[in-house]
Amino acid sequence: MIGIAVLGAGRIGKIHAANVAANPRARLIAVADPFAEACEPLAAKHGAEAMTDPMAAIARDDVDAVVIGTPTDTHIGLLTRAVELGKAVLCEKPIDLDLGKSTEAAAQIEKLGAKVMLAFNRRFDPTFAEVRRAIDAGKIGAVRQVVISSRDPGMPPEGYVKSSGGLFRDMTIHDLDMARWLLGEEPVTVTAMASRIVDAEMVGKYDDYDSAMVILQTASGRQAHINNCREAVYGYDQRIEVLGETGMLSHDNLRPSTMRLATAEMTEAQPPLLNFFLERYTAAYRAEMEAFVSALADGTPLPTTAQDGVQALRLAEAALQSVRTGKTVSL
Ligand SMILES: NC(=O)c1ccc[n+]([C@@H]2O[C@H](COP(=O)([O-])OP(=O)(O)OC[C@H]3O[C@@H](n4cnc5c(N)ncnc54)[C@H](O)[C@@H]3O)[C@@H](O)[C@H]2O)c1
Repeated sequence: MIGIAVLGAGRIGKIHAANVAANPRARLIAVADPFAEACEPLAAKHGAEAMTDPMAAIARDDVDAVVIGTPTDTHIGLLTRAVELGKAVLCEKPIDLDLGKSTEAAAQIEKLGAKVMLAFNRRFDPTFAEVRRAIDAGKIGAVRQVVISSRDPGMPPEGYVKSSGGLFRDMTIHDLDMARWLLGEEPVTVTAMASRIVDAEMVGKYDDYDSAMVILQTASGRQAHINNCREAVYGYDQRIEVLGETGMLSHDNLRPSTMRLATAEMTEAQPPLLNFFLERYTAAYRAEMEAFVSALADGTPLPTTAQDGVQALRLAEAALQSVRTGKTVSL
């Protein structure tokens, strides 16, 4: 049994706590959040201890691993402490908004041989994992192009935009990781365009964008295209397509039901898309926790690393630089 403390009892902390509690090889020891009103009900729900001091939760002898689901600017402090104490970590993305600090943290993790997994949940989504398995099984031959459409159902609140680190570090980072994972090669050039066409006034205040297109290319010429928009009126749009030498793999959006409606006015009408990430990626978060716990229990390598976090952040920074300069950025 792996003893786990979940740090942060907000949106993502609630998901992680439930998945730890439901995992047969893990025990949820504590939920820590400086706000008692946040951690107490969550801890009580899963029979764990509520703690308002996250550092004390990390230091507990019965805690083998911690899940960091706190605001991004607190990740590095908690991560550093946990690895110093020899604890394994599942850390939410991004490691930090600053590439230099993230690189330093990853170097320290490597030096200590610490077990740190970056929470790129989409890799664990059953539908996307199926695409990756099909690539690995040679179903489409060598990969040539990857297309990722990733659009949010609506603009986040202003407070979120203000502290998010911007569209590329906050939202595109997931797609950049997916692109690396599906391409199977590291991108060496990044070309990006971004604009403010959903809420120009609000995102403009923070020098941010609400719509972007990013093109990546690897040294051998493999390409990926990511399109992001903060608002798609029809819901949370998450699709991927991978073109290979001998075929194409794609995954469409998921819906709560496969029912279709045909009337005099329309045919093939379907229920709305699963809205938003907590609903769309429920299975992915569960599988992500399963992968973390299994790797620790079996002593096998963790499926994602801090270096994956650094690499995705590096691509996000390059995309931003490309937007600002109007030029392709070479890495
Ligand atoms: N992988 C994903 O799909 C995904 C989705 C959402 C959020 N995230 C990431 O998860 C992190 C948290 O996001 P959220 O939306 O859950 O935020 P949130 O604001 O809903 O929750 C954060 C919680 O952390 C608590 N907190 C603040 N400082 C803390 C500390 N030092 N120790 C312990 N708890 C502390 C807050 O009181 C709050 O309850 C962010 O880094 C975000 O980028 C990832």
